[in-house]
Amino acid sequence: MNVTSLPMLPDWNHDHMLVVFTGLERPDLANILGGRHEHVERLAARAKFDGKSGTMKSIPLLDDGFPGEVVFVGVGNDADHKSIEKAAVKSTAGDMLKKAGNVVVVLANDLSDKPNAHGALALGLMLGGYRFDIYRKEADRFTPPKSLSVLGLTTADLQKAEALYAGIKLARDLVNEPANILTPPEFAKRASKLADLGIDIEVLGEKQMADLGMGALLGVGQGSELESQLVVMKWLKGGEEAPLAFVGKGVCFDTGGISIKPASGMEEMTMDMGGAAAVTGAMHAIATSDLACNVIGVIGLVENMPDGRAQRPGDVVTSMSGQTIEVLNTDAEGRLVLCDAITFTKDRFQPSAIIDLATLTGAILVSLGHEYAGLFSNNDDLVARLNTASEQSGDRVWRFPLTEKFDSMLRSRVADMANIGGRWAGSITAAQFLQRFVGDTPWAHLDIAGTAYVKEPHDQGPKGATGYGVRLLVDLAAGKK
Ligand code: BES
Ligand code: ZN
Ligand code: MG
Repeated sequence: MNVTSLPMLPDWNHDHMLVVFTGLERPDLANILGGRHEHVERLAARAKFDGKSGTMKSIPLLDDGFPGEVVFVGVGNDADHKSIEKAAVKSTAGDMLKKAGNVVVVLANDLSDKPNAHGALALGLMLGGYRFDIYRKEADRFTPPKSLSVLGLTTADLQKAEALYAGIKLARDLVNEPANILTPPEFAKRASKLADLGIDIEVLGEKQMADLGMGALLGVGQGSELESQLVVMKWLKGGEEAPLAFVGKGVCFDTGGISIKPASGMEEMTMDMGGAAAVTGAMHAIATSDLACNVIGVIGLVENMPDGRAQRPGDVVTSMSGQTIEVLNTDAEGRLVLCDAITFTKDRFQPSAIIDLATLTGAILVSLGHEYAGLFSNNDDLVARLNTASEQSGDRVWRFPLTEKFDSMLRSRVADMANIGGRWAGSITAAQFLQRFVGDTPWAHLDIAGTAYVKEPHDQGPKGATGYGVRLLVDLAAGKK
Protein backbone atom coordinates (compact mmCIF):
# COMPACT_ATOMS: atom_id res chain seq x y z
CA MET A 1 0.00 0.00 0.00
CA ASN A 2 1.41 3.34 -0.98
CA VAL A 3 1.65 5.72 1.97
CA THR A 4 2.23 9.44 1.55
CA SER A 5 2.73 12.28 4.00
CA LEU A 6 0.48 15.27 4.49
CA PRO A 7 1.50 18.45 6.30
CA MET A 8 -2.12 19.45 7.05
CA LEU A 9 -5.70 18.36 6.63
CA PRO A 10 -6.81 18.60 2.97
CA ASP A 11 -10.09 19.98 1.67
CA TRP A 12 -12.60 17.48 2.88
CA ASN A 13 -15.45 15.72 1.05
CA HIS A 14 -17.62 12.62 1.30
CA ASP A 15 -14.87 10.57 -0.29
CA HIS A 16 -12.61 10.95 2.74
CA MET A 17 -12.06 8.59 5.59
CA LEU A 18 -10.42 9.82 8.76
CA VAL A 19 -8.53 7.20 10.76
CA VAL A 20 -7.66 8.26 14.28
CA PHE A 21 -5.10 6.28 16.28
CA THR A 22 -5.48 6.85 19.97
CA GLY A 23 -4.32 5.49 23.33
CA LEU A 24 -6.43 5.14 26.47
CA GLU A 25 -6.74 8.88 26.95
CA ARG A 26 -9.76 10.60 25.46
CA PRO A 27 -8.52 11.61 22.00
CA ASP A 28 -7.48 15.24 21.86
CA LEU A 29 -7.48 16.31 18.26
CA ALA A 30 -7.40 20.08 18.61
CA ASN A 31 -3.93 20.50 17.12
CA ILE A 32 -4.73 18.07 14.34
CA LEU A 33 -8.23 18.79 13.12
CA GLY A 34 -8.51 22.48 13.91
CA GLY A 35 -12.12 23.64 14.14
CA ARG A 36 -13.52 20.18 13.51
CA HIS A 37 -11.91 18.50 16.49
CA GLU A 38 -14.83 18.80 18.90
CA HIS A 39 -17.15 17.05 16.53
CA VAL A 40 -14.84 14.06 16.13
CA GLU A 41 -13.99 13.92 19.84
CA ARG A 42 -17.70 13.88 20.64
CA LEU A 43 -18.17 10.93 18.28
CA ALA A 44 -15.50 8.96 20.15
CA ALA A 45 -17.14 9.79 23.47
CA ARG A 46 -20.62 8.87 22.23
CA ALA A 47 -19.33 5.57 20.81
CA LYS A 48 -17.63 4.96 24.19
CA PHE A 49 -14.42 4.24 22.33
CA ASP A 50 -11.83 3.53 25.02
CA GLY A 51 -8.66 3.16 22.94
CA LYS A 52 -7.89 -0.38 24.11
CA SER A 53 -5.25 -2.14 22.08
CA GLY A 54 -6.64 -4.17 19.20
CA THR A 55 -10.01 -2.37 19.12
CA MET A 56 -11.43 -0.48 16.14
CA LYS A 57 -14.65 1.42 15.62
CA SER A 58 -16.04 2.96 12.47
CA ILE A 59 -18.60 5.79 12.64
CA PRO A 60 -20.14 7.90 9.85
CA LEU A 61 -19.20 11.58 10.03
CA LEU A 62 -22.59 13.19 9.54
CA ASP A 63 -21.64 16.81 9.97
CA ASP A 64 -22.30 18.69 6.72
CA GLY A 65 -18.98 20.43 6.49
CA PHE A 66 -17.09 17.27 7.31
CA PRO A 67 -18.78 14.20 5.78
CA GLY A 68 -17.33 10.74 5.18
CA GLU A 69 -16.38 8.30 7.87
CA VAL A 70 -14.16 8.23 10.93
CA VAL A 71 -12.45 5.12 12.23
CA PHE A 72 -10.94 5.00 15.71
CA VAL A 73 -8.06 2.59 16.23
CA GLY A 74 -7.01 1.74 19.78
CA VAL A 75 -3.32 1.55 20.61
CA GLY A 76 -3.78 0.79 24.30
CA ASN A 77 -1.81 1.58 27.40
CA ASP A 78 1.75 2.97 27.47
CA ALA A 79 1.84 3.23 23.71
CA ASP A 80 5.22 3.36 22.01
CA HIS A 81 6.37 3.09 18.40
CA LYS A 82 5.98 -0.70 18.54
CA SER A 83 2.36 -0.70 19.68
CA ILE A 84 1.58 2.01 17.13
CA GLU A 85 3.12 -0.12 14.36
CA LYS A 86 1.21 -3.17 15.55
CA ALA A 87 -2.12 -1.30 15.63
CA ALA A 88 -1.40 0.06 12.15
CA VAL A 89 -0.74 -3.45 10.84
CA LYS A 90 -4.00 -4.60 12.37
CA SER A 91 -5.99 -1.69 10.93
CA THR A 92 -5.22 -2.94 7.42
CA ALA A 93 -6.28 -6.54 8.04
CA GLY A 94 -10.05 -6.41 7.47
CA ASP A 95 -11.76 -4.70 4.57
CA MET A 96 -12.01 -1.31 6.26
CA LEU A 97 -9.53 0.36 3.90
CA LYS A 98 -10.60 -1.64 0.88
CA LYS A 99 -13.77 0.32 0.35
CA ALA A 100 -12.28 3.68 1.30
CA GLY A 101 -11.47 6.55 -1.05
CA ASN A 102 -8.96 9.02 0.31
CA VAL A 103 -7.76 7.95 3.71
CA VAL A 104 -6.14 10.39 6.11
CA VAL A 105 -4.51 8.83 9.16
CA VAL A 106 -3.82 10.88 12.28
CA LEU A 107 -2.30 10.27 15.70
CA ALA A 108 -4.19 11.74 18.64
CA ASN A 109 -2.19 14.06 20.87
CA ASP A 110 -1.31 11.43 23.47
CA LEU A 111 0.57 9.48 20.79
CA SER A 112 2.00 12.00 18.38
CA ASP A 113 4.95 13.02 20.58
CA LYS A 114 6.21 9.44 21.16
CA PRO A 115 9.61 8.84 19.53
CA ASN A 116 9.26 7.77 15.89
CA ALA A 117 5.47 7.59 16.24
CA HIS A 118 4.66 8.72 12.70
CA GLY A 119 7.35 6.58 11.08
CA ALA A 120 6.08 3.51 12.93
CA LEU A 121 2.54 4.29 11.86
CA ALA A 122 3.56 4.59 8.20
CA LEU A 123 5.62 1.39 8.31
CA GLY A 124 2.79 -0.50 10.00
CA LEU A 125 0.36 0.56 7.28
CA MET A 126 2.82 -0.61 4.61
CA LEU A 127 3.56 -3.93 6.33
CA GLY A 128 -0.10 -4.67 6.97
CA GLY A 129 -1.15 -3.61 3.47
CA TYR A 130 1.09 -6.24 1.87
CA ARG A 131 -0.71 -8.80 -0.29
CA PHE A 132 0.57 -11.49 -2.62
CA ASP A 133 -2.23 -11.75 -5.14
CA ILE A 134 -0.50 -11.46 -8.53
CA TYR A 135 -1.78 -14.91 -9.51
CA ARG A 136 -5.44 -14.08 -8.79
CA LYS A 137 -7.84 -12.65 -11.32
CA GLU A 138 -8.13 -8.87 -11.22
CA ALA A 139 -11.50 -8.84 -9.46
CA ASP A 140 -10.13 -10.89 -6.56
CA ARG A 141 -7.10 -8.72 -5.95
CA PHE A 142 -6.81 -6.32 -3.04
CA THR A 143 -7.71 -2.80 -4.10
CA PRO A 144 -5.95 -0.24 -1.94
CA PRO A 145 -7.65 3.08 -1.16
CA LYS A 146 -7.25 5.88 -3.68
CA SER A 147 -4.79 7.54 -1.37
CA LEU A 148 -3.49 6.87 2.11
CA SER A 149 -1.68 9.64 3.90
CA VAL A 150 -0.33 10.17 7.37
CA LEU A 151 -0.76 13.64 8.78
CA GLY A 152 2.43 15.09 10.23
CA LEU A 153 4.75 12.43 8.81
CA THR A 154 8.05 13.99 7.77
CA THR A 155 9.57 13.20 4.38
CA ALA A 156 12.67 11.81 6.09
CA ASP A 157 10.62 9.39 8.21
CA LEU A 158 8.54 8.39 5.19
CA GLN A 159 11.69 7.63 3.19
CA LYS A 160 13.11 5.54 6.04
CA ALA A 161 9.92 3.48 6.26
CA GLU A 162 9.80 3.09 2.49
CA ALA A 163 13.38 1.86 2.27
CA LEU A 164 12.85 -0.74 4.98
CA TYR A 165 9.50 -1.81 3.59
CA ALA A 166 10.85 -2.27 0.06
CA GLY A 167 13.40 -4.76 1.45
CA ILE A 168 10.78 -6.62 3.48
CA LYS A 169 8.38 -6.70 0.53
CA LEU A 170 11.11 -8.14 -1.69
CA ALA A 171 11.84 -10.87 0.86
CA ARG A 172 8.13 -11.66 1.24
CA ASP A 173 7.57 -11.82 -2.50
CA LEU A 174 10.53 -14.17 -2.96
CA VAL A 175 9.26 -16.50 -0.22
CA ASN A 176 5.66 -16.43 -1.49
CA GLU A 177 6.58 -17.18 -5.11
CA PRO A 178 5.97 -20.79 -6.16
CA ALA A 179 8.98 -22.94 -7.01
CA ASN A 180 8.13 -23.30 -10.71
CA ILE A 181 8.56 -19.52 -11.01
CA LEU A 182 11.31 -18.80 -8.50
CA THR A 183 13.92 -21.32 -9.64
CA PRO A 184 17.60 -20.90 -8.64
CA PRO A 185 18.43 -19.08 -11.93
CA GLU A 186 15.33 -16.85 -11.59
CA PHE A 187 16.23 -16.00 -7.98
CA ALA A 188 19.77 -15.13 -9.13
CA LYS A 189 18.26 -12.91 -11.83
CA ARG A 190 16.09 -11.06 -9.31
CA ALA A 191 18.99 -10.64 -6.90
CA SER A 192 21.08 -9.29 -9.78
CA LYS A 193 18.62 -6.40 -10.12
CA LEU A 194 20.05 -5.03 -6.87
CA ALA A 195 22.87 -3.74 -9.06
CA ASP A 196 20.50 -0.83 -9.84
CA LEU A 197 20.86 0.25 -6.20
CA GLY A 198 24.64 0.35 -6.36
CA ILE A 199 25.22 -3.17 -5.03
CA ASP A 200 28.00 -5.07 -6.73
CA ILE A 201 26.72 -8.47 -7.94
CA GLU A 202 28.53 -11.66 -8.84
CA VAL A 203 26.77 -14.88 -9.86
CA LEU A 204 28.61 -18.21 -9.81
CA GLY A 205 27.23 -21.18 -11.76
CA GLU A 206 27.94 -24.88 -11.25
CA LYS A 207 31.18 -24.84 -13.24
CA GLN A 208 32.70 -22.08 -11.12
CA MET A 209 31.50 -23.70 -7.90
CA ALA A 210 33.01 -27.02 -8.99
CA ASP A 211 36.32 -25.26 -9.62
CA LEU A 212 36.16 -23.94 -6.05
CA GLY A 213 35.48 -27.45 -4.73
CA MET A 214 31.95 -26.84 -3.42
CA GLY A 215 31.06 -30.54 -3.38
CA ALA A 216 28.55 -30.23 -0.56
CA LEU A 217 26.40 -27.51 -2.16
CA LEU A 218 26.63 -29.06 -5.61
CA GLY A 219 25.61 -32.50 -4.28
CA VAL A 220 22.27 -31.05 -3.15
CA GLY A 221 21.45 -29.57 -6.56
CA GLN A 222 22.68 -32.63 -8.44
CA GLY A 223 19.22 -34.18 -8.81
CA SER A 224 17.67 -31.03 -10.25
CA GLU A 225 17.28 -29.99 -13.88
CA LEU A 226 17.97 -26.44 -12.75
CA GLU A 227 21.43 -25.04 -12.32
CA SER A 228 22.59 -24.25 -8.79
CA GLN A 229 23.79 -20.70 -8.23
CA LEU A 230 25.77 -18.73 -5.70
CA VAL A 231 25.04 -15.01 -5.64
CA VAL A 232 27.42 -12.56 -4.00
CA MET A 233 26.13 -9.07 -3.16
CA LYS A 234 28.61 -6.43 -2.07
CA TRP A 235 27.82 -3.10 -0.41
CA LEU A 236 31.10 -1.54 0.58
CA LYS A 237 30.38 2.00 1.70
CA GLY A 238 31.97 1.86 5.14
CA GLY A 239 35.61 2.60 4.47
CA GLU A 240 38.41 0.18 5.35
CA GLU A 241 36.79 -1.93 8.06
CA ALA A 242 36.23 -5.68 7.52
CA PRO A 243 32.71 -6.36 6.24
CA LEU A 244 29.83 -7.94 8.07
CA ALA A 245 28.69 -11.01 6.10
CA PHE A 246 25.16 -12.38 5.73
CA VAL A 247 24.79 -15.90 4.34
CA GLY A 248 21.40 -17.32 3.32
CA LYS A 249 20.02 -20.80 2.64
CA GLY A 250 18.24 -20.69 -0.69
CA VAL A 251 16.64 -24.07 -1.30
CA CYS A 252 14.04 -23.00 -3.87
CA PHE A 253 12.20 -26.25 -3.34
CA ASP A 254 12.95 -29.00 -0.83
CA THR A 255 11.40 -32.36 -1.68
CA GLY A 256 13.88 -33.96 0.72
CA GLY A 257 15.63 -35.59 -2.24
CA ILE A 258 15.92 -39.40 -2.13
CA SER A 259 15.11 -39.18 1.62
CA ILE A 260 11.84 -37.82 0.30
CA LYS A 261 9.36 -35.90 2.45
CA PRO A 262 5.75 -37.01 2.97
CA ALA A 263 3.33 -35.59 0.35
CA SER A 264 1.21 -33.80 2.92
CA GLY A 265 2.58 -30.31 3.48
CA MET A 266 5.41 -30.66 0.97
CA GLU A 267 4.04 -27.65 -0.94
CA GLU A 268 5.21 -25.45 1.94
CA MET A 269 8.80 -26.20 1.01
CA THR A 270 8.63 -23.34 -1.52
CA MET A 271 9.59 -21.25 1.52
CA ASP A 272 12.88 -23.11 2.05
CA MET A 273 14.76 -20.16 0.59
CA GLY A 274 13.61 -17.81 3.38
CA GLY A 275 17.19 -17.25 4.55
CA ALA A 276 18.34 -16.21 1.09
CA ALA A 277 15.27 -13.97 0.78
CA ALA A 278 16.03 -12.24 4.09
CA VAL A 279 19.63 -11.61 3.04
CA THR A 280 18.52 -10.23 -0.35
CA GLY A 281 15.83 -8.05 1.25
CA ALA A 282 18.30 -6.72 3.83
CA MET A 283 20.85 -5.84 1.14
CA HIS A 284 18.08 -4.03 -0.74
CA ALA A 285 17.07 -2.04 2.35
CA ILE A 286 20.68 -1.23 3.32
CA ALA A 287 21.46 0.10 -0.16
CA THR A 288 18.21 2.06 -0.43
CA SER A 289 18.88 3.64 2.96
CA ASP A 290 22.44 4.35 1.81
CA LEU A 291 23.91 3.05 5.09
CA ALA A 292 27.60 3.81 5.53
CA CYS A 293 28.76 0.25 6.22
CA ASN A 294 30.53 -2.72 4.64
CA VAL A 295 28.15 -5.63 4.15
CA ILE A 296 28.43 -8.77 2.06
CA GLY A 297 25.43 -10.97 1.20
CA VAL A 298 26.00 -14.51 -0.06
CA ILE A 299 23.13 -16.83 -1.00
CA GLY A 300 23.33 -20.47 -2.07
CA LEU A 301 20.51 -21.30 -4.48
CA VAL A 302 19.60 -24.92 -5.24
CA GLU A 303 16.67 -27.23 -5.76
CA ASN A 304 16.59 -30.49 -3.77
CA MET A 305 15.04 -33.14 -6.03
CA PRO A 306 14.96 -36.96 -6.25
CA ASP A 307 16.21 -38.15 -9.63
CA GLY A 308 18.40 -40.74 -11.32
CA ARG A 309 21.32 -38.42 -10.77
CA ALA A 310 20.37 -37.27 -7.29
CA GLN A 311 22.73 -37.89 -4.40
CA ARG A 312 21.99 -41.01 -2.33
CA PRO A 313 21.85 -41.53 1.41
CA GLY A 314 25.34 -42.74 2.29
CA ASP A 315 27.14 -40.70 -0.37
CA VAL A 316 30.32 -38.98 0.76
CA VAL A 317 30.97 -35.46 -0.53
CA THR A 318 33.97 -33.18 -0.09
CA SER A 319 33.18 -29.64 1.01
CA MET A 320 35.09 -26.53 -0.10
CA SER A 321 36.81 -26.55 3.32
CA GLY A 322 38.30 -29.95 2.47
CA GLN A 323 36.29 -31.71 5.19
CA THR A 324 34.32 -34.74 3.98
CA ILE A 325 30.66 -35.34 4.81
CA GLU A 326 28.66 -38.56 4.83
CA VAL A 327 25.18 -37.62 3.61
CA LEU A 328 23.08 -39.92 5.79
CA ASN A 329 19.89 -38.04 5.01
CA THR A 330 19.45 -36.06 1.80
CA ASP A 331 16.71 -34.01 3.49
CA ALA A 332 19.29 -32.41 5.80
CA GLU A 333 20.43 -30.40 2.78
CA GLY A 334 20.41 -26.84 4.08
CA ARG A 335 23.59 -27.32 6.10
CA LEU A 336 25.28 -28.78 3.00
CA VAL A 337 24.46 -25.64 1.05
CA LEU A 338 25.44 -23.33 3.89
CA CYS A 339 28.76 -24.96 4.77
CA ASP A 340 30.19 -24.21 1.33
CA ALA A 341 28.64 -20.74 1.21
CA ILE A 342 30.19 -20.03 4.62
CA THR A 343 33.64 -21.30 3.60
CA PHE A 344 33.48 -19.21 0.43
CA THR A 345 32.48 -16.09 2.40
CA LYS A 346 35.17 -16.59 5.04
CA ASP A 347 37.99 -17.28 2.56
CA ARG A 348 37.07 -14.56 0.14
CA PHE A 349 36.18 -11.66 2.45
CA GLN A 350 37.64 -12.31 5.93
CA PRO A 351 34.49 -10.78 7.42
CA SER A 352 34.37 -9.34 10.94
CA ALA A 353 31.39 -11.63 11.57
CA ILE A 354 29.16 -14.07 9.70
CA ILE A 355 25.42 -14.25 10.31
CA ASP A 356 23.71 -17.10 8.50
CA LEU A 357 19.94 -17.41 8.16
CA ALA A 358 18.22 -20.64 7.21
CA THR A 359 14.91 -22.45 7.34
CA LEU A 360 17.04 -25.26 8.64
CA THR A 361 15.10 -27.61 10.89
CA GLY A 362 11.54 -28.68 11.67
CA ALA A 363 12.82 -29.13 15.23
CA ILE A 364 13.05 -25.35 15.75
CA LEU A 365 9.26 -25.20 15.26
CA VAL A 366 8.89 -27.76 18.04
CA SER A 367 11.02 -25.57 20.33
CA LEU A 368 9.97 -22.03 19.49
CA GLY A 369 6.90 -22.19 17.25
CA HIS A 370 6.48 -19.08 15.13
CA GLU A 371 7.51 -16.63 17.87
CA TYR A 372 11.29 -16.71 17.93
CA ALA A 373 14.09 -17.70 15.61
CA GLY A 374 16.69 -20.01 17.13
CA LEU A 375 20.01 -18.25 17.70
CA PHE A 376 23.29 -20.17 17.86
CA SER A 377 26.64 -18.47 18.19
CA ASN A 378 30.30 -18.80 19.13
CA ASN A 379 30.56 -15.16 20.22
CA ASP A 380 28.84 -13.38 23.13
CA ASP A 381 29.47 -9.87 21.75
CA LEU A 382 27.77 -10.74 18.51
CA VAL A 383 24.85 -12.21 20.47
CA ALA A 384 24.59 -8.97 22.44
CA ARG A 385 24.47 -6.96 19.21
CA LEU A 386 21.86 -9.30 17.77
CA ASN A 387 19.76 -9.02 20.93
CA THR A 388 19.84 -5.23 20.62
CA ALA A 389 18.87 -5.38 16.95
CA SER A 390 16.15 -7.88 17.81
CA GLU A 391 14.75 -5.62 20.52
CA GLN A 392 14.65 -2.66 18.11
CA SER A 393 13.25 -4.53 15.15
CA GLY A 394 10.76 -6.90 16.75
CA ASP A 395 12.34 -9.87 14.93
CA ARG A 396 12.67 -12.05 18.03
CA VAL A 397 15.61 -14.41 18.72
CA TRP A 398 16.30 -17.00 21.43
CA ARG A 399 19.77 -18.42 22.05
CA PHE A 400 20.49 -22.16 22.25
CA PRO A 401 23.61 -23.88 23.62
CA LEU A 402 26.48 -25.31 21.57
CA THR A 403 28.76 -27.90 23.22
CA GLU A 404 31.34 -30.54 22.34
CA LYS A 405 28.91 -33.23 23.39
CA PHE A 406 26.38 -32.06 20.79
CA ASP A 407 29.19 -31.78 18.25
CA SER A 408 30.23 -35.39 18.86
CA MET A 409 26.77 -36.53 17.73
CA LEU A 410 27.88 -35.83 14.15
CA ARG A 411 30.45 -38.65 14.10
CA SER A 412 30.51 -40.63 10.86
CA ARG A 413 31.58 -44.20 10.18
CA VAL A 414 33.51 -43.21 7.04
CA ALA A 415 33.88 -39.43 6.73
CA ASP A 416 34.92 -36.41 8.82
CA MET A 417 31.30 -35.93 9.84
CA ALA A 418 27.77 -37.05 9.10
CA ASN A 419 25.14 -34.53 8.01
CA ILE A 420 22.70 -35.55 10.78
CA GLY A 421 23.14 -36.09 14.48
CA GLY A 422 20.44 -38.54 15.44
CA ARG A 423 16.98 -38.10 16.82
CA TRP A 424 17.35 -35.47 19.54
CA ALA A 425 18.41 -31.81 19.65
CA GLY A 426 18.05 -31.58 15.88
CA SER A 427 18.33 -27.78 15.67
CA ILE A 428 21.47 -27.80 17.80
CA THR A 429 23.25 -30.57 15.91
CA ALA A 430 22.46 -28.72 12.67
CA ALA A 431 24.14 -25.64 14.14
CA GLN A 432 27.07 -27.74 15.39
CA PHE A 433 27.52 -28.93 11.83
CA LEU A 434 27.76 -25.32 10.59
CA GLN A 435 30.16 -24.38 13.36
CA ARG A 436 32.70 -26.86 11.95
CA PHE A 437 33.07 -24.48 8.99
CA VAL A 438 33.37 -21.08 10.65
CA GLY A 439 36.77 -21.45 12.35
CA ASP A 440 37.34 -18.58 14.76
CA THR A 441 35.28 -16.02 12.81
CA PRO A 442 32.58 -14.56 15.08
CA TRP A 443 29.47 -16.31 13.83
CA ALA A 444 25.76 -16.54 14.51
CA HIS A 445 23.24 -18.88 12.95
CA LEU A 446 19.53 -18.08 12.89
CA ASP A 447 17.17 -20.98 12.35
CA ILE A 448 14.13 -19.26 10.85
CA ALA A 449 12.10 -22.33 9.83
CA GLY A 450 9.30 -21.18 12.19
CA THR A 451 9.43 -17.44 11.56
CA ALA A 452 9.92 -17.02 7.80
CA TYR A 453 6.43 -18.20 6.95
CA VAL A 454 3.28 -18.35 9.07
CA LYS A 455 -0.28 -19.43 8.45
CA GLU A 456 -1.98 -16.77 10.59
CA PRO A 457 -1.80 -12.96 10.54
CA HIS A 458 0.96 -11.76 12.87
CA ASP A 459 2.23 -8.52 14.48
CA GLN A 460 4.08 -7.43 11.33
CA GLY A 461 1.65 -8.42 8.62
CA PRO A 462 -0.77 -10.83 7.00
CA LYS A 463 -0.34 -14.61 6.85
CA GLY A 464 2.24 -16.11 4.50
CA ALA A 465 5.81 -14.90 4.13
CA THR A 466 6.83 -12.58 6.97
CA GLY A 467 10.09 -11.10 5.70
CA TYR A 468 11.60 -12.16 9.02
CA GLY A 469 15.25 -11.19 9.36
CA VAL A 470 15.34 -8.18 7.06
CA ARG A 471 14.81 -5.66 9.86
CA LEU A 472 17.09 -7.59 12.19
CA LEU A 473 19.97 -7.50 9.70
CA VAL A 474 19.39 -3.87 8.79
CA ASP A 475 19.41 -2.84 12.46
CA LEU A 476 22.51 -4.95 13.05
CA ALA A 477 24.31 -3.29 10.13
CA ALA A 478 23.14 0.17 11.20
CA GLY A 479 24.20 -0.40 14.79
CA LYS A 480 27.73 -1.35 13.83
CA LYS A 481 30.36 1.13 14.94
N1 BES B 1 13.63 -27.42 4.95
C1 BES B 1 13.65 -28.33 6.02
C2 BES B 1 13.33 -27.71 7.38
C3 BES B 1 11.96 -27.13 7.55
C4 BES B 1 10.94 -27.86 8.13
C5 BES B 1 11.69 -25.83 7.17
C6 BES B 1 9.69 -27.31 8.31
C7 BES B 1 10.43 -25.27 7.35
C8 BES B 1 9.44 -26.01 7.92
C9 BES B 1 15.03 -28.99 6.13
O1 BES B 1 15.72 -29.10 4.94
C10 BES B 1 14.80 -30.39 6.59
O2 BES B 1 14.20 -31.13 5.88
N2 BES B 1 15.29 -30.71 7.79
C11 BES B 1 15.12 -32.00 8.36
C12 BES B 1 16.44 -32.39 8.98
C13 BES B 1 16.47 -33.82 9.43
C14 BES B 1 16.47 -34.74 8.25
C15 BES B 1 17.74 -34.02 10.25
C16 BES B 1 14.03 -31.90 9.41
O3 BES B 1 13.91 -30.87 10.07
O4 BES B 1 13.26 -32.83 9.53
ZN1 ZN C 1 15.37 -27.71 3.51
MG1 MG D 1 15.37 -30.87 3.77
